[in-house]
Amino acid sequence: MVGIGTEHLRDADDAILRVEDLVVEFSVDGGTLRAVAGVSFDVQAGETLSIVGESGCGKSTTAKAVIHLEEPADGVVTFGDAELSALTGAELREVRRELQMIFQDPISSLNPRRAVRDIIQEPAHIWEMEELWGDEEIDEMMTEVGIDPQYGDRRPYQFSGGQCQRISIARALVLNPKVLIADEPVSALDVSVQAQILNLLDDLKSDFQLTLLFISHDLAVVRNISDRVVVMYLGRVAEIGDADSLFDNPSHPYTRTLLAAVPGSGLEADDSISGELPSPLNPPTGCRFHTRCPYATEICISEVPVFTQQDPDHWVACHHPQ
Ligand SMILES: Nc1ncnc2c1ncn2[C@@H]1O[C@H](COP(=O)(O)OP(=O)(O)O)[C@@H](O)[C@H]1O
Ligand code: SF4
Ligand SMILES: [Mg+2]
Repeated sequence: MVGIGTEHLRDADDAILRVEDLVVEFSVDGGTLRAVAGVSFDVQAGETLSIVGESGCGKSTTAKAVIHLEEPADGVVTFGDAELSALTGAELREVRRELQMIFQDPISSLNPRRAVRDIIQEPAHIWEMEELWGDEEIDEMMTEVGIDPQYGDRRPYQFSGGQCQRISIARALVLNPKVLIADEPVSALDVSVQAQILNLLDDLKSDFQLTLLFISHDLAVVRNISDRVVVMYLGRVAEIGDADSLFDNPSHPYTRTLLAAVPGSGLEADDSISGELPSPLNPPTGCRFHTRCPYATEICISEVPVFTQQDPDHWVACHHPQ
């Protein structure tokens, strides 16, 4: 068995993006590192799905595999009706346009030598969509993301981190994507700026009819913007479901630890949950969280937990859900 099951996936016909038993491996000194070890989730059009989990648990690798920036070792990614691994040529190019990604560090992901207006316009050239993006349309896009077009000739270093993230969002939207994958888009920003960027993403979602795949190591950040949440632990899904159900009723001990760190969650941090994330090169047997879990018993060490249903749209992979 590669993962921990796909029972939690909804009707395939309703999904814009569906990931089944995704596996991603890297060859490293010491062997094969399985960064993603059988992850499944689905996203419906217009939803915001957040993937959360501590640094190193495989969030970015999952996202990159979804857009085939990393080649999956196993698993199926379906976008609309198309299975991504089966696409080549023009079809793959079209899907690449429709799935856009923005990253954590906006300043370093923008070309430092170019004017921001050109940076925003560049994808339109690459994808032969210039006729859609003249100066006037670029001005409108800048206004839409909250950058005054009169500063269009400035370079990225002349803007703040939050402004650079706005610019990289504009650059992604020029391609009129269906899905925007935002990999820790606010993690490098001050808390006050984080809220502004989250609000902007939420507004753009309806204006541009986007589906959002939002990645964060911080559950507090995703609370207000998510329709659904995936909690990942060491390359696997620990818990997945409707955001209200998951936040009101966190069932996986790992989710509860993450939530306990959020001020006002009402959960007490459990002192016995400590230590470092184990290496995916040598993951624990059975439940991968057993080395840090205060509720672990014999079965947790020997058997991989499969998903059980907590609520109609809320699933947890744990032998002893809380
Ligand atoms: N290119 C790579 N080569 C080798 N190991 C990698 C590579 N990219 C990621 N990893 C490893 O895969 C695991 C998951 O990393 P990542 O997906 O970046 O996690 P996250 O985004 O949740 O912080 C980590 O152990 C990381 O060291
Ligand atoms: S399966 Fe066992 S070790 Fe894993 S989270 Fe549940 S109780 Fe803890
Ligand atoms: Mg990451």
